[in-house]
Amino acid sequence: MKVLLIGSGGREHALAWKIAQSPLLNELYAAPGNPGISDHATLVALNVEDHAAVIAFAKEKAIDFVVVGPEAPLVAGLADDLRAAGIATFGPSKAAAQLEGSKGFTKDLCARYDIPTGAYQRFKSAEPAKGYVRAQGAPIVIKADGLAAGKGVTVAMTEAEALAAIDDCFDGAFGAAGAEVVVEAFLDGEEASFFCLSDGKTALALATAQDHKRVGDGDTGPNTGGMGAYSPAPVMTPAMVERTMKEIIEPTISGMAKDGNPFSGVFFAGLMITAKGPELIEYNVRFGDPECQVLMMRLKSDLLPILYATATGTLDKVEAEWRDDAALTVVLASKGYPGAYDKNTPIAHIPEASEEAKVFHAGTALKDGGLVATGGRVLNVTALGKTVTEAQARAYAMTDKVEWENGFCRRDIGWQAVAREKV
Ligand code: AMP
Ligand code: GLY
Repeated sequence: MKVLLIGSGGREHALAWKIAQSPLLNELYAAPGNPGISDHATLVALNVEDHAAVIAFAKEKAIDFVVVGPEAPLVAGLADDLRAAGIATFGPSKAAAQLEGSKGFTKDLCARYDIPTGAYQRFKSAEPAKGYVRAQGAPIVIKADGLAAGKGVTVAMTEAEALAAIDDCFDGAFGAAGAEVVVEAFLDGEEASFFCLSDGKTALALATAQDHKRVGDGDTGPNTGGMGAYSPAPVMTPAMVERTMKEIIEPTISGMAKDGNPFSGVFFAGLMITAKGPELIEYNVRFGDPECQVLMMRLKSDLLPILYATATGTLDKVEAEWRDDAALTVVLASKGYPGAYDKNTPIAHIPEASEEAKVFHAGTALKDGGLVATGGRVLNVTALGKTVTEAQARAYAMTDKVEWENGFCRRDIGWQAVAREKV
């Protein structure tokens, strides 16, 4: 099979690494890719916003299958255009990608199909939203409707904070994403991420993960795209996974199909495990970054036929086998992230991969023959272990061998799981 992978982050490096191990693979291209991905794929300098150019490239190289990593091209309809050109594609249609692209869309789906989630209302202007907040009281959650790079959510512990967040949204803090606002009940519990494939009819549960969104140790400081993650998530017991499939995933698949938006791709469900059980916080329609890195380390099966089955409606014919081991990833970021940071700082050394540990590239580039950091999140040091404690020790031992002066990381990724394992 000839495969084209779209994207350039740590998630795509993990996907490329795993796809490259498939005996079914003849050739792997990545657009635009990164220096880590170039170990496994031929990089192509395509502008992925130019769908015609992507299609022309795929035709020229006789690509059999395109895997779309990030959400932006999905929300822009790249998967629709590729499929219309007769190219099998992993990733949902533009219409189905609204599950991530519009929080209001997802909340309405939950209401229609009885999917457990926080009570909510949608607003197109500030005054009625504020009225609702005053009536409900704090804590309460304010969300910009559209894609806001993970920054459009305010969990307001006071009414004043909630009112200010509403003003921020309608004053344009999140651009067009904030033109509509969802106000949602605060859910109390432990968070977990659940990954599940669907081809529009069948579901294949993958695995669970937990991430660390805050920049600082002890889960403090501003939110980021994720400073680390581990899998599995201890709170997602087999019974909880079963309830999630039945109460959340299955009604989503049948509801989306009924509404004329069949979903094909990966559900990345953000869950709150409350006293009542699993409740949906949000859907993403692509693998998590860095959650994908820990999932790929744990996946024993060949990834390529699983993704292909998802894209071609034959998911009932495949299975996914997982290692019992835990996996944990530590994100190395540029000093200053998630605020301003220097670009093109030199990375002097990245340790060699072993069976149990590997560094994925997220925001790197080659400049004058040397490796430099170009992004906020730059490297993902990922390790396996019999326990989260062991995976954590291995990941930090490798992290300490990375030579990059402008880098920093959290030192406590996986702390909840490690504390649990001590008991
Ligand atoms: P989201 O971008 O929707 O995943 O929200 C970002 C983060 O805000 C989540 O990971 C949760 O930690 C928190 N959050 C979102 N919605 C709620 C809610 N209804 N109750 C409590 N926390 C929430
Ligand atoms: N790590 C969170 C995300 O990929 O959205």
